[in-house]
Amino acid sequence: MEHNRQIGVGRTAEVWEHGEETIVKLYLEDFPPEAVGQEFKVSTYVYNQGSVRTPRPVELIEAEGRRGIVFQQIHGRSLLSLISGQPWRLSGYARQLASLHYELHQLEGSPALGRYKEQLRRQIVAAPILSMEEKTAILEHLQQLPEGSRLCHGDFHPDNVLIDAEGAWIIDWMNGICGNPAADAARSVLLFSMGTMPPGSPLVKRVVTSFIRQKLTKVYIREYLRLSGGSYAGINAWIVPVAAARLTEGIPAAEKEQLAKEIRRRLRSLRKA
Ligand SMILES: Nc1ncnc2c1ncn2[C@@H]1O[C@H](COP(=O)(O)OP(=O)(O)OP(=O)(O)O)[C@@H](O)[C@H]1O
Ligand SMILES: [Mg+2]
Repeated sequence: MEHNRQIGVGRTAEVWEHGEETIVKLYLEDFPPEAVGQEFKVSTYVYNQGSVRTPRPVELIEAEGRRGIVFQQIHGRSLLSLISGQPWRLSGYARQLASLHYELHQLEGSPALGRYKEQLRRQIVAAPILSMEEKTAILEHLQQLPEGSRLCHGDFHPDNVLIDAEGAWIIDWMNGICGNPAADAARSVLLFSMGTMPPGSPLVKRVVTSFIRQKLTKVYIREYLRLSGGSYAGINAWIVPVAAARLTEGIPAAEKEQLAKEIRRRLRSLRKA
């Protein structure tokens, strides 16, 4: 396969220029094929809805033992790189992020994409670090949360939004799923406030200081709630299950310990309530 310029690299894939106005997202060799299939399925679903700007998924390919998805090429920069270049514009970018997220939440999801609560349940059961008692308490809490049937991105953060001359594009739908938007917003809040970003984006370590993280989180939440008319409690209730599920991801050990500590702190106050 002819490769041209490499455009990006993340935790799961490399992105290369490929053909006329297209790119290929080439997954790491041992990456689960179901996850590639899920990204193609969700991207196609979202593209076909027509109201959320996302690169057109062209085809699934296999080359040199690796799977890839060919997408329309976007000539733009990620919101993360814009934030790191112009941190004084952070509030505006955070509001834009919230409004893009709110807009995509207006789309109905499809159960064929999978169900968020069901996926969270599976991941919580499989989570490392937590005890059986802790998992049981989290699962009981999850049980009481409303299912929802909207489109959720599943990994909505500023590196998955590209901005070009005409506006914003939402990419990276591998975790896209049908569920409650409040769960999706809680996941973003968690990523903004304590996430680490993929290797190759040193800007988070260097530039997105804890001040920037806190400010992004605060402005995002305020704007998201203003648009949705929802309550902070509605989002906050999802933090524990979403954080527990995140323990199954390939994130640094230190971040897992930090998540477990926060989960335990919140479980204690849930018990008191
Ligand atoms: N359609 C596209 N056009 C132009 N550039 C793209 C396109 N899709 C992805 N990129 C570039 O490649 C980078 C990585 O893409 P993507 O977010 O889909 O994968 P990933 O980062 O490996 O996934 P993860 O967020 O799970 O680590 C993006 O930040 C962007 O710079
Ligand atoms: Mg990404």
